[in-house]
Amino acid sequence: MIIVASTNGKVGIWAAMEVLRGGGTAIDAVEAGIRLVESNPEDTTVGLGGIPNLLGEVELDASIMDGRTLAAGAVAALRGYEHPISIARKVMEELPHVLLAGPGAERFAAEMGFERRELLTEKARQTWEEQLRKAMPETVLANLEGEPALRQWVQRVRESRRGGGTVNFLAQDADGNICAGVSTSGQGWKYPGRVGDSPLIGAGNYADNRYGAAACTGLGEMAILTGTAHSVVLYLKMGLSLEEAGRQAMEDFHALADLYQGALSIVALDKDGHHAAFSNREGTTYVYMTGEMDEPEELPRVSAA
Ligand code: GLY
Repeated sequence: MIIVASTNGKVGIWAAMEVLRGGGTAIDAVEAGIRLVESNPEDTTVGLGGIPNLLGEVELDASIMDGRTLAAGAVAALRGYEHPISIARKVMEELPHVLLAGPGAERFAAEMGFERRELLTEKARQTWEEQLRKAMPETVLANLEGEPALRQWVQRVRESRRGGGTVNFLAQDADGNICAGVSTSGQGWKYPGRVGDSPLIGAGNYADNRYGAAACTGLGEMAILTGTAHSVVLYLKMGLSLEEAGRQAMEDFHALADLYQGALSIVALDKDGHHAAFSNREGTTYVYMTGEMDEPEELPRVSAA
């Protein structure tokens, strides 16, 4: 039994391990762990308290993948629901689809009995506004909804703020089944409707019991363009070690145009329970906890620029 998470997943890792210790599945553990991160208002990159898009709306993306069956569920650009990971799980369980976006995802959440909630905290709103004030004149800020060339402003705000947050959870339960989950509020100040890698199976999330699992945090466009999470699992399938698979997936970023170069990190787990994490930035960490441990351990990621 093991849980591997991005470091901001620490708030949920004990709960996830408790699920596994109680005989729960990897899917139950991933959902339980991520829900606590989604409810943490201090985390400005996931769920409640996430930095909003350019218009001040919190838009959430999430996905979950079952390594037993390769079934997956995801939601994108979802507004007004605190736990996109649970809605993603319901998409996987209740629909013959993988990904629901925007109003359709919200309609489905209501149908499944999820409660609406305001997700924009005062702290996130202030951060959002301060950044916009640096990038644009008061006249534009006062009428963002009506701004005819919104795209120029999102680009200017982004120039000083590349990268991002997001939470990753990978779990392997007592039966050896693997699940991967990802949840995010995406890039702060993004163009409304921008969807990152987190809800895209193969980009930000992939799990296959036969080989392993991987998930990403950071600039989602990089993971979308190179299919990062699936690449890691494919490299494992091709016989590379976990460390070689992660390094190879990071190397794939070198071909990207400068517009899509930013910070990107990966957590990975193989079918035998070995774990590793990678980043193209120095000094980053991840956390893991096995069934024998009382506390999670925080380890450095392999730095692979
Ligand atoms: N990795 C999260 C995002 O780019 O939206």
